[in-house]
Amino acid sequence: METEHAHAAIEALLEERRTFSPSEDFRAGAAISDEEVYRRAEKDFERFWAELAGEFIGWFKEPTKTMDWKPPHATWFADGELNVAWNCLDKQVDAGRGGKVAYHWVGEPEGETRDLTYEELLREVSRLANGLRSLGVRKGDRVGIYMGMVPELPVAMLACARVGAAHVVVFGGFSAESLAERMRDTGAKVLITQDEGWRKGSKVPLKRNADDAADEAPDLERFVVLRRTGDDVPWTEGRDVWWDELVDEQSEECEAERMNAEDVLFLLHTSGTTAKPKGAQHTSAGYLLHVSVTHKWIFDIHEDTVWWCAADVGWITGHSYIVYGPLNNGTTSVLYEGDPAYPDWDRHWQIVERYGVSAYYTAPTLIRSFVKMGPEYPARHDLSSLRLLGTVGEPINPEAWVWYWKYIGQERCPIVDTWWQTETGGILITPLPGVTTLKPGSATVPFPGIKPEILDEQGNPVPQGEGGFLTISRPWPGMFRTLWEDDERYVQTYFSKYGPETYFTGDGAKQDSDGYFWLMGRIDDVINVAGHRLSTTEIESTLVEHAAVAEAAATGAADPDRGQRIVCFVLLKGGHEPSDELAEELRQFVAQKIGKIARPAAVLFGDDLPKTRSGKIMRRLLKDIAEGNELGDTTTLRDATVVDDLKQKADAALGRR
Ligand code: PRX
Repeated sequence: METEHAHAAIEALLEERRTFSPSEDFRAGAAISDEEVYRRAEKDFERFWAELAGEFIGWFKEPTKTMDWKPPHATWFADGELNVAWNCLDKQVDAGRGGKVAYHWVGEPEGETRDLTYEELLREVSRLANGLRSLGVRKGDRVGIYMGMVPELPVAMLACARVGAAHVVVFGGFSAESLAERMRDTGAKVLITQDEGWRKGSKVPLKRNADDAADEAPDLERFVVLRRTGDDVPWTEGRDVWWDELVDEQSEECEAERMNAEDVLFLLHTSGTTAKPKGAQHTSAGYLLHVSVTHKWIFDIHEDTVWWCAADVGWITGHSYIVYGPLNNGTTSVLYEGDPAYPDWDRHWQIVERYGVSAYYTAPTLIRSFVKMGPEYPARHDLSSLRLLGTVGEPINPEAWVWYWKYIGQERCPIVDTWWQTETGGILITPLPGVTTLKPGSATVPFPGIKPEILDEQGNPVPQGEGGFLTISRPWPGMFRTLWEDDERYVQTYFSKYGPETYFTGDGAKQDSDGYFWLMGRIDDVINVAGHRLSTTEIESTLVEHAAVAEAAATGAADPDRGQRIVCFVLLKGGHEPSDELAEELRQFVAQKIGKIARPAAVLFGDDLPKTRSGKIMRRLLKDIAEGNELGDTTTLRDATVVDDLKQKADAALGRR
């Protein structure tokens, strides 16, 4: 094995062989049911996107151009004019969807719900857009948004889009400090927020945090504050205005600004765990096209689909697949305010049953929590309305995939594992559910027109079956255009490793003999044991295959002899207790499945893993724990107490105490 794999950038040792083909039933009703789209896109990818632009975008002025690629900068439809909010609202009302529900909103406190039709949404957006104009917001400005998952969050984004201001949404779980940094970075003058939000039955002090942020972001001149809980909050006369008082006096008519296709629609900071966040800059037409086509084809959206993307609007997933894609497709969506475990772990299934949700999209981290809690929660509800499931955000372990297939999809629903990033704007690697045969754990194949390549350190394509660095070697309409006011960092981070023609994703991947893509995690997650570069994802997936394991994270700790040694953190399923015997069994299990080289030096049991607020495991901290270092910055952690507990256990188990 050593010589055979010596030149691979990352070694790929696991192989998953189960496959799931689309059922005849599903295929018959699917939006895309044959491979013709792939051929069409390959023949002329620019023309492919240009034709779709005619179908998916309502233009104020039709473009005559398609793509202009001056590596590493692309423009799409550069002389076209449109307004994204007009496409999401007015166009839908004109098409007869005025009375159709755009959002079934479900508050976290039980019993609080609200339905908003397209017509109502258009009215609310127009009034707020007029209100923003009255505060001096103009085309080209930046507006901060710091809210919970309330219907007014998409309203605020669309109001910005209507007046041509770029929104900068900051996830409501972030601190005042993170908010201030993003406001300073983008020079926002207006911030839209709310008194408080609901999370896990508690109130989140959004307005208070915003006040603290304002001390560190001197450009912020005005606050628009939505009443959500109605509690008293600190108030700064002259700066703060209540949302309802601002919109009360506004007209329900608001002309949508004519925007160029390449004008900025929004800035969104990447959820990076280390350096200063990067403000990905997304534009209007190319982005709208990409998210709308991918939404419709991948999630198989029909006029009567009830769609639920259970992400937070504060992440790119929410921007693309709660707001812009679904609205531009005239879809009915569910928008849920709160925590999946509030008041109990069946909350999502209760909502699926109540609204007859037909397509549901979430992250592997949540699926693993569902696995841990057990199948009795979904079993409490009628899930027969579901016809498709999706995942995003991390590699999904085959075992979690199969659990999702069995207990949520009831062996009937295709699962689309979609690979993409904040920077890519929309999905790039994914099945089309009426066409693609699925393999648990693989994001399968490139979306039509997308060209990923796996390269080694020197930029050569790696042989099939071997791991390397995932790159994209051709532009696509939804790609970010640069980093806000930092083009140098854009070039440096994404287009220097392999030159300006090749987008470097930062992910490791392999392709199998069918050409399927298997994502292996961020390359900074690779563990190097005695010269073998091992994928954390493979080790984790193997551990999760063991009957006792609910969730696992693998990390490399510095080792004087072997470069790094593998330390694994494991959460057990209910009914299993930590013991030395079990740790030993798990070490053997990994050695047996992947190879001796992957045998963990230690397996540690914990009650939870350190995760960011978007659910990604913070490997930097696991590494600190495994190496017995002082812990780095823990401010972006969802629950900071988790690391102290793990650190004590690690120090004890690794003989540092
Ligand atoms: O490492 C990949 C992982 O999430 C990263 C992008 O994170 P973010 O910009 O926060 O966007 C998340 C939502 C699109 C990627 O570089 N990732 C995302 N989807 C998958 C994935 N890893 C494996 N499989 C996926 N389906």
